Amino acid sequence: MRIVLVGPPGAGKGTQAAYLAGNLSIPHISTGDLFRANISQGTELGLKAKAYMDAGDLVPDEVTIGMARDRMEQPDAENGFLLDGFPRNVSQAEALDAMLKAEDMTLDAVLDLEVPEDEVVKRIAGRRICRNDSSHVFHVTYSPAKSEGVCDVCGGELYQRDDDSEETVRKRLEVYHTQTEPIIDYYKAQGLVVTISALGKVTEVTQRAMEALKKSD
Ligand code: AP5
Ligand code: ZN
Repeated sequence: MRIVLVGPPGAGKGTQAAYLAGNLSIPHISTGDLFRANISQGTELGLKAKAYMDAGDLVPDEVTIGMARDRMEQPDAENGFLLDGFPRNVSQAEALDAMLKAEDMTLDAVLDLEVPEDEVVKRIAGRRICRNDSSHVFHVTYSPAKSEGVCDVCGGELYQRDDDSEETVRKRLEVYHTQTEPIIDYYKAQGLVVTISALGKVTEVTQRAMEALKKSD
């Protein structure tokens, strides 16, 4: 299956993607995680991306689209993938369509996670992620690590993301509304969008998502 996950910052895209990708045996491809890995490795791409991310802005398309394409061309993505955080504006969606068309492929579904803004703010305020791997995600109240400040998965140190400050979160939400939400209409026109509520326990949301994807099949 080829799936795009969409939803505001803090909706739980990364959290759900980890379970869904496992259930569906497809790789979880997060452009945010790819950027953060590049930043921690000090690559040129990471240096380019960091200022935009810290400001809550989108990283320019010419950097993002090439990085996403390289990742989608890896052998493990041959039979499908779950995209998290890409595409994030209409021109990225058009670029993805062109990439897929060139390979005679199509998307199966766009899963839209709906969460009220006050809940998103709470989720982001309490989020802690792992220094070794930003896909290891915890929450101080909703999903605390067994030992405070230490990643359950790999023992790495947990910290708060640089772009999770209140001011940057406000900017990220604004960018989501103005630049990312329009892709929902873009994909609705292709009949691909399934919307679910992302409220409730993580496991409940995963179950809701799996059922919605089955129906859209
Ligand atoms: P990215 O990393 O994609 O961030 P985001 O879209 O803002 O999403 P988040 O990672 O903040 O949230 P999430 O929905 O994954 O939630 P999570 O599962 O962590 O992008 C960061 C930046 O990179 C962008 O601002 C941009 O600069 C750049 N970028 C990335 N992609 C780009 C692109 N394509 N083009 C240009 N720029 C790009 O959950 C949040 C918290 O809630 C966690 O603590 C979690 O434990 C908790 N939680 C999750 N589910 C539940 C639940 N059901 N109940 C209670 N708590 C829950
Ligand atoms: Zn870890």
